[in-house]
Amino acid sequence: MQENFEFCSVDSVYLAQKYSTPLYVMSQDIIEEKIDYIKVNFLDKYPRTYAYYASKAFLTKAMAKIIKKSEMGIDVVSYGELYTALDAGINPDKIMFHGNNKSKDELEFALERGIGRIVVDGISELKLLIELAGERFTTKILLRISPNVEAHTHKYISTGQLDSKFGLSFASKDLDEAIELAIKSEHIDFKGFHFHVGSQLFDNEAHVESTKKAMELIKEIKDKYDYEIEDLNVGGGFGVRYTAEDEPMPLEYFTDAIMEEVLALADKYEITRPNIFIEPGRYIVAEAGITLYTVGSVKNIESVRKYICIDGGMADNPRPALYQAKYSACIANKMYDEDTELVTVAGKCCESGDILIWDINLPKVERGDILAVMGTGAYNYSMSSNYNKLAKPAVVMIHDKEDRLIVQRESYEDLLKNDLG
Ligand code: LLP
Repeated sequence: MQENFEFCSVDSVYLAQKYSTPLYVMSQDIIEEKIDYIKVNFLDKYPRTYAYYASKAFLTKAMAKIIKKSEMGIDVVSYGELYTALDAGINPDKIMFHGNNKSKDELEFALERGIGRIVVDGISELKLLIELAGERFTTKILLRISPNVEAHTHKYISTGQLDSKFGLSFASKDLDEAIELAIKSEHIDFKGFHFHVGSQLFDNEAHVESTKKAMELIKEIKDKYDYEIEDLNVGGGFGVRYTAEDEPMPLEYFTDAIMEEVLALADKYEITRPNIFIEPGRYIVAEAGITLYTVGSVKNIESVRKYICIDGGMADNPRPALYQAKYSACIANKMYDEDTELVTVAGKCCESGDILIWDINLPKVERGDILAVMGTGAYNYSMSSNYNKLAKPAVVMIHDKEDRLIVQRESYEDLLKNDLG
């Protein structure tokens, strides 16, 4: 019987030995399956639909190249993400540039490189962009609206409510002013609207509600300005499974409901049905990643709790500390041990909040065991830090049962390379 935990048919203990730990392991096979699912169940199902990968979830050059090979575009939110996407050879036209406070440098870079669409987050950014574009560029823009809907998720990853730092509030003076300016400006090509209501969503209400509002707005603009809005970007946020308690809905539960609204309302309002864009991030990469750690200290506080301490923690995965996120895990070298005990997995950072998993049943754990944490493909590598001067882990990509190092482990020299003393 196979003793060790295999990830996409590769022995995870072998990976831990070969590359050392902590180690992020991503599966190209799973990423491509997810992309294919989007293609079959959304892009091929409805004409004039587009999917952009929200690269903040996980971005390396290898990841950008997977996106480049697919039909998808890519969504970036900073100079760094834009730079990485371009460096990996992504066609600028397939890049959508977000962010609630883009700098002048970022906007100029985007204009010079002919980025496909800039998603303008507010009135002052719109004015700045118009000024920067001047006579030299005509750039396609979307206006980000904050649709004033509550998404059922953690407060920190909810974005479409009235009190949000993102976008132009629905039915506000600023939004009216931005629309008028965008329509009248000769230096920008106003394509439409964007909203993103939140992340890790299990119900489609917020998307459907926001779609209705956006379609109404599109009709109002047609009536008032005789201007045809071509694009509607409904963001990402499609939830995934982290533990057995999560019950994510299939992608089409969201996209079919959105398309149903769009089609019905385009008919009712007698407007041309806009191109529809989605921006999944977590959906594509979360389940495509695991993290491998080595167990060090095991500490039993009698009748209270048993801690098993690993060689990583909140520096490589801040999500439990930030959002009380839950994960499942196994002891990769003791897959079939049936004798389990309740333990808490603690990270190695000097923070009491650095607990990766509270109360999980694992086989009897000893120093040297390999812990595999599941579903770490999204917002782990991309949110990692050097807290406590921990070096960032390496990233390995699995494809067709082969493993390949795609990001080197940081060295201690790397940690000091910008420190001028
Ligand atoms: N589009 C926009 C404009 C976004 O702001 C986001 C995520 C997405 C798309 C992709 O959302 P997704 O499909 O991945 O849910 N760090 C948090 C998540 C923050 C999400 C921010 N925006 C976490 O670890 O849960």
